[in-house]
Amino acid sequence: MFPTHRPRRLRTSPQLRRMVRETVVTTHDLIYPLFAVPGSGVANEVKSMPGVYQLSVDKIVEEAKEVYDLGIPSIILFGIPDTKDEEATGAWHDCGIVQKAATAVKEAVPDLVVVADTCLCEYTSHGHCGYLEVGDLTGRVLNDPTLELLKKTAISQAQAGADIIAPSGMMDGFVQAIREALDEAGFQDTPIMSYAAKYASAYYGPFRDAADSTPQFGDRRTYQMDPGNSREALKEIELDIAEGADMLMVKPALAYMDIIWQVKQASNLPVAAYNVSGEYSMVKAAALNGWIDEERVVMETLTSFKRAGADLILTYHAKDAARWLKA
Ligand code: PBG
Ligand code: ZN
Repeated sequence: MFPTHRPRRLRTSPQLRRMVRETVVTTHDLIYPLFAVPGSGVANEVKSMPGVYQLSVDKIVEEAKEVYDLGIPSIILFGIPDTKDEEATGAWHDCGIVQKAATAVKEAVPDLVVVADTCLCEYTSHGHCGYLEVGDLTGRVLNDPTLELLKKTAISQAQAGADIIAPSGMMDGFVQAIREALDEAGFQDTPIMSYAAKYASAYYGPFRDAADSTPQFGDRRTYQMDPGNSREALKEIELDIAEGADMLMVKPALAYMDIIWQVKQASNLPVAAYNVSGEYSMVKAAALNGWIDEERVVMETLTSFKRAGADLILTYHAKDAARWLKA
């Protein structure tokens, strides 16, 4: 009798397909990014990211409640400060925008897990992720002096109530430096989610509109990774684990599924995938044109991140996904 094997047998009904489904996305897997700006009553839609807004702290709190009510367990906060300078003062100041937002959210929605993105690019006058040599016009960030600013930033974020510190600047030794700083300041139990394998990617374009963090000159290729490399990602992962990272992130996600898979195989830590701004905007643009079925494309993509090995997904689609999962 030909054929002997008929895999289609298990696809004959929705019930059967659900029984044998290997990977499912749940609302608990999602982390929703938010952009905090000064002022009150502010909600500026980001032009290149339909449905994503820069929000003042009062609006962030409203949003946090909505996110929590949808069953999404966590947000990640980015900040756009009033003023920028060489020292990224807005990043580590007690009254910084992320610090204010974190405190307000934890007060209003104590059970929502607040992740703080720990980087300097939104706060430096030149838009790079750290200190530059005076007069540098290439963007070759000075590694070790930058660690000092990142330590201050992490401590002030934890003091403001952030539950997880997420350093994203790809500085060497940043996990160890931040771990030591947090421990000394009494935050031994505050986990670090390291942007361990972060590539120099054109997919961050819309985010830089949202966070107003486009470098004024040069690019980020002297600190973020070359898209051609995967063994280097494993090297970065290995170092971050040794330095005390509690969770690892791969970023971007869609074009880097092989990296998610390899990171998952190489470690026993939770792996997060950052479904970045450009990935979101491409889907939104096509959906707004009626060219794709947004719900199906988004859910297929999120499922695929999990199938590749992601335990957690940072995504601008989180609220929509939570609604679709509920329906
Ligand atoms: C800052 C940072 C970036 C993103 C997260 N943190 C941008 C960058 O490195 O230029 C990108 C997020 C996104 O594109 O959604 N270091
Ligand atoms: Zn940065």
